[in-house]
Amino acid sequence: MRDDFLPFSKPFIGEEEVQAVREVLLSGWITTGPVTAKFEEAFSKLVGARFAAAVSSATAGLQIALMALGVGPGDEVITTPMTFAATVNAIIYNGARPVLVDVEMGTMNIDPKRIREKLSPRTKAVMPVHFAGLPADMDAIKEVAPGIPIVEDAAHAIGASYKGSPIGYGPSPLAVFSFHPAKNITTAEGGMIVTDDPELADSCKVMRQHGMSKGAWNRFAKSGRPDYEIVSPGIKANLTDLQSAIGLEQLKRLEGFQSERHRIAGIYDRELKGVRGIMLPEYPQYPHVHGRHIYWVILKTEELGITREEFMGRLKEMNIGTGVHYKAVHHHKRYEGFGWSDLDLPNASYASSRIVSLPLFPGMTDHDAMDVVNAVKEICG
Ligand SMILES: Cc1ncc(COP(=O)(O)O)c(C=O)c1O
Repeated sequence: MRDDFLPFSKPFIGEEEVQAVREVLLSGWITTGPVTAKFEEAFSKLVGARFAAAVSSATAGLQIALMALGVGPGDEVITTPMTFAATVNAIIYNGARPVLVDVEMGTMNIDPKRIREKLSPRTKAVMPVHFAGLPADMDAIKEVAPGIPIVEDAAHAIGASYKGSPIGYGPSPLAVFSFHPAKNITTAEGGMIVTDDPELADSCKVMRQHGMSKGAWNRFAKSGRPDYEIVSPGIKANLTDLQSAIGLEQLKRLEGFQSERHRIAGIYDRELKGVRGIMLPEYPQYPHVHGRHIYWVILKTEELGITREEFMGRLKEMNIGTGVHYKAVHHHKRYEGFGWSDLDLPNASYASSRIVSLPLFPGMTDHDAMDVVNAVKEICG
């Protein structure tokens, strides 16, 4: 057994981040301003999008992205049940109705073949999640929902690419990333909306700050003017320069982070293959680079004779942390009454009580990964 506890995830923060925050703290300007503008520029370059709007979380970013598309009461947005509550909540916060489409068992991504049956005249957007960092099949989604805007929940997909283009590089109107501490890079909390459309980019920047015609930097800096007008709906969801300073440093580390994530996931792929009672992720045929945000497995609990909770408890006794991504949306108490049924969502319903995420973060050693592999093998016999 390991001597020390191996967490499921851990952010990497170095001296450079500390120094960058210190500089902003002492600069006299700590909220959204020039450092955030720099972070937006660097991020948009990274993903090849024309514009980026930094926000306080991906949840807020998804809410704003839908707001910018004019999604509101009476509208429907198609999404997946295998996601964090944030995805459906962003739809609900706009007064619209989430419509769930089941996932493919091998990838946990939304099944494009099943989208068509859920389209209606009220469908205003499709919101796929690139689950665990694996790019959803965007071409197939577009083919079944022609002309319907796609808002990509790219919370897991920093560093991922689809058919040669980074996630966030058109042609969806909008994609939203997360910088929560468990994500591939962090700003403590935060998110980024990217788009190629100048009008949507303007709307997102206005909507992240109450619908104000100008942000604080444009009002209080010497070059700005203090007057403003509320010109649209909006929420309070700007990202501060303090957080953006962390983000700029994290971006410099991204390539290294990603190669560590790929190395650890490669060990799991190789060493867990064929282990009794475990279903491993599958990878699609289309060209892609996995974002490697999460490494999940599905436990065949009937074959193993233990529940997921018992499995996780055994790993914890062996000093290994785990995560659950996710208890399917329709299994949460909050959404009883939304009319969602296990029969309609069989794959997500199956995975909901059987899926487990294994430790995966930069700084993990091959030895750490092999501790996880050996522990899983011991439990599964
Ligand atoms: C798929 C997905 N979407 C959205 C979010 C929300 O991200 P944030 O915590 O930045 O609001 C998360 C966060 O875990 C997520 O996993």
